[in-house]
Amino acid sequence: MTVNPEIVLRRARQEDRDKVVWVESLSTPNLSYVPHVWDMFLDDMEGDWTVAEIDGEVIGCGKYSILPDGSAWLETLRVVPHRQGLGVGKRLYEHWFEVSREKGVKTMRMYTGVRNVVSKGLAERYGLRMAETFRGTLMKSDPGKVDAEYDFRRVVDQGRATELLMRHSAAWGGWQVMNRTYYKLSPMLCAHLAERGMVYRDPDTESVIAMGARFMPRHGLHVGLFAGDAEACLGFAMQTAVEREIERLHCLFPSHNPGVEESLTGFGFRLEPADFMVLEVHLE
Ligand SMILES: CC(C)(COP(=O)(O)OP(=O)(O)OC[C@H]1O[C@@H](n2cnc3c(N)ncnc32)[C@H](O)[C@@H]1OP(=O)(O)O)[C@@H](O)C(=O)NCCC(=O)NCCS
Repeated sequence: MTVNPEIVLRRARQEDRDKVVWVESLSTPNLSYVPHVWDMFLDDMEGDWTVAEIDGEVIGCGKYSILPDGSAWLETLRVVPHRQGLGVGKRLYEHWFEVSREKGVKTMRMYTGVRNVVSKGLAERYGLRMAETFRGTLMKSDPGKVDAEYDFRRVVDQGRATELLMRHSAAWGGWQVMNRTYYKLSPMLCAHLAERGMVYRDPDTESVIAMGARFMPRHGLHVGLFAGDAEACLGFAMQTAVEREIERLHCLFPSHNPGVEESLTGFGFRLEPADFMVLEVHLE
């Protein structure tokens, strides 16, 4: 008879860092960012950064983050392969429902690759349902692609930024993505982006672009939304990436958006091999 091991959840502590990096290296060998976000996650007192232990050893983790619109973003859910299937993921989901109840959070979302049946099944088990599928594109930073002088200016006024971005919300399916964090477009998000200097406008071409990074700003410049003269927007994004010595540009968008996809691939972005899906649940 197999006895289910006891799973203990507790808040992550500074000394867990190496162990959580180890958990990530085994559970998502092709995706490693915990070392870069460790301090940010640990310092996030509004959210929740939890580790799971079995027999006193850290074998899993999960991060609960509150986004600018007040919804919760469930991320960095990892369990080492030899401890998968024991209920750790389920415990973390149950914990997150508890956290949401305590905080009065009304919506929770997560994302995973379209092929990740376990992650999807686990989310669905807790009532999360498909909200949207997304296509990813990326491109290396390339000074050769900067062939014009752009006159984009930062929009710092939050009201103006909101007005400029929200009018393109429908064309972007109501979303914008940075660092694979899938944000619903809302006035709160637009104000947040403007506050962080991520909204730019070119008055000559009536173009607007939101770009920046939630974390790891040197690794990737994330284009959340662009509208107007697409070539000018992407040229300006490339110029910014070159100037800031950022390795790559990324842009993710709802899969059924051929216009955005054509603009990106026409500029030189290539498609990521598989799409992503966002699941969500609205709480009472
Ligand atoms: C996804 C992951 C966190 C799940 O953690 P876990 O501790 O193994 O999961 P649990 O044992 O708590 O839960 C298993 C549940 O997953 C779901 N599940 C498992 N296999 C499934 C399958 N083949 N199809 C559909 N659902 C499945 C079921 O709901 C199952 O619960 P049930 O058996 O009671 O019905 C873990 O597999 C992991 O770390 N994977 C790699 C990283 C990853 O994909 N992270 C998530 C998003 S990027």
